[in-house]
Amino acid sequence: MNARFATSIVSAAAMCCCVAIAIGQSPAGKRKAPSKRVSFATVQPIFQAKCVSCHNDARHPGDVNLSSYLKLLESGPKGGLLVAGQPDKSKLLLYVDGTKQPRMPFRQAPLSKKEIAAIRVWIAAGARS
Ligand code: HEC
Repeated sequence: MNARFATSIVSAAAMCCCVAIAIGQSPAGKRKAPSKRVSFATVQPIFQAKCVSCHNDARHPGDVNLSSYLKLLESGPKGGLLVAGQPDKSKLLLYVDGTKQPRMPFRQAPLSKKEIAAIRVWIAAGARS
């Protein structure tokens, strides 16, 4: 390819980029800021360490299996331990912070404030994979 052609591709790409940036910067207040992506990886170690010994493929009291993201989505009687974006309506959080009883982990030390906060943040950001 010749140099002129290459330059025009580069400038076309630059232009697209500017347009994309301009669209992204719609006036504040008109659009909600896109929520930060918080992945399941931020909470999985907590479930792995504190929940999966009881909530796994073989045993799943309360119909709760916390061994993977997909199992978690399928968990809970009548579907749904999670209301994405609404931690205060998510059973998953309400059982660990003691709002709902028996508090989880069942008959064991409660999660730390930091762990509970991490779960809250993850749900608030959409409970994504
Ligand atoms: C020592 C075993 C054990 C551990 C560890 C444990 N659970 Fe449970 N979990 C249970 C039992 C047993 C029940 C059923 C309680 C009942 O119905 O009285 C239950 C029920 C639940 C329920 C309620 C389901 C419903 O809608 O009724 C949720 C949510 C839950 N567990 C989440 C968790 C989370 C999150 C963790 C880790 C932070 C955890 N559990 C750790 C034993 C455990």
